Amino acid sequence: MKAAVLVKNSSANDSFEIREIEKPKAEEGQVLIKVEAFGLNFADIMARQGIYQDCPPLPAVIGYDVVGEVVEIGLGVDNVQVGDRVTAMTRFGAYAEYAITDYRACAKITEAYPIGKATALTTQYCTAYYCLEEMLNLYPGDKVLIHAAAGGVGTALVQLAKHKGCEIFGTAGSAEKLEYLRELGVDHPINYRSSDFEQEVRKLAGDGGLDAVFDPVGGDSVKKGLRLLGSGGRIVLFGASSMTGTNVFGKISAGLGFGFYHPAEFMMASKSMIGVNMLRIADNRPMVLKRCLEKVVQLVEDGVLDPTEAKVFPIEELAEAHEFLEGRKSIGKVSVKW
Ligand SMILES: NC(=O)c1ccc[n+]([C@@H]2O[C@H](COP(=O)([O-])OP(=O)(O)OC[C@H]3O[C@@H](n4cnc5c(N)ncnc54)[C@H](OP(=O)(O)O)[C@@H]3O)[C@@H](O)[C@H]2O)c1
Repeated sequence: MKAAVLVKNSSANDSFEIREIEKPKAEEGQVLIKVEAFGLNFADIMARQGIYQDCPPLPAVIGYDVVGEVVEIGLGVDNVQVGDRVTAMTRFGAYAEYAITDYRACAKITEAYPIGKATALTTQYCTAYYCLEEMLNLYPGDKVLIHAAAGGVGTALVQLAKHKGCEIFGTAGSAEKLEYLRELGVDHPINYRSSDFEQEVRKLAGDGGLDAVFDPVGGDSVKKGLRLLGSGGRIVLFGASSMTGTNVFGKISAGLGFGFYHPAEFMMASKSMIGVNMLRIADNRPMVLKRCLEKVVQLVEDGVLDPTEAKVFPIEELAEAHEFLEGRKSIGKVSVKW
C-alpha cells in the first residue's frame, strides 16, 4: 500500500515521500480501515518539525485521524463490521491507504457525513470533550476562556461550552477568525495580536475572574491564564503551540514562560491546573476514549456539535495542507484525501 512517509524533519515540501509499505493486518481487538481521507492535527506539524516527543523514529507514518471503510476486523471487535464507514483515531499510521486501530477508537458514521467533518470527530472533538466534560464541571453562566478558538479543538470547545450555557471568551489571531468566532456564538472574541488578552478579559470579566481556561498555546499564556482565574477556577493545559516556528532560544523562553509553581499555591488560591494528553488516554484508558467518541457522535446526531471543514486537500497537496495549518490560515479541520 502507499503511505506518505515522514522521512526527515524539514519544510513541508521536503519532509514527506510517497512510499510503498506493508499493509497491516487486524489482530485481536483491531480494525483495519481503507482510508478515504486522513485528518491533520497540530501535533503533525510539531512531529514534522522534530519537536514532538511522542513521534516514532523516522522514517515514520504519522497521523491520528482517518475516515474510511472497515475491511478487516480482529477477534473481539463488536462495535463495527466489515463494510461500515467509520471515523477513527489511530496511534500514528493515518497518512496511508490502510490504517489499523483499536476497536475502541472507532465509531460508525453515515455514508453522507462529509469527510472534513468526520476527521474532526476523533482527536480534536474527543480531546475537547475530554477536557471540558470529563475533566471539568461547567454550569450556565460560567466564564470560560478558550485559546486558538477558531482552530479544530477550539471550535469543538466553543460548541461544547455554548451547549453548557457558558459565557465564552475566545482568542484568535486574525480579523477573519474573529468574525468566525462571532458566528460560532463566542460572546467576547479577542484578537490576541492587536491587544493583550489578559487585559481585555480582565476588563470584560470583572472582579470575579474566570471559571475555566483552555490553553493549547503554553508559554507565558499559562501564567496569564492562571492570573485570570477566580477562586475555584481551573486551567486545562493541552498543547504548546508557542514552541513551534521559533529557534532554540524561543523554545527555551516559551518553556520557561510556563512558570514554576509550588502545589501549596494552588491550594491557597483554590485554583487547579489540569494536563491532558489524549495519546496517553488512548493508550492507557481506551474505554475512556471509546466513551468520549460515542458521546461526541451522539452530540453530532443531536445537532449540538457540528465541526467546521477548513479544507480537504488531495494527497498530491500534502505539503500545502501542512503549510495551511502551520501558517495559521485554517479555520476548523484540515483533511487530506487519497
Ligand atoms: N493534548 C492533546 O491530547 C491534544 C490533542 C489535540 C490537539 N492538541 C493541541 O491543541 C492545539 C490545537 O490543535 P488543532 O489540531 O486543533 O490545531 P488548530 O487549532 O486547528 O490550529 C492551530 C492554531 O493554533 C494557533 N497558534 C497559536 N500559536 C501558534 C504558533 N506558534 N504557530 C502556529 N499556530 C499557532 C493558530 O491560531 P491563531 O491564528 O488563532 O493563533 C493556529 O491556527 C494544538 O496546540 C495541539 O497540539 C492537544
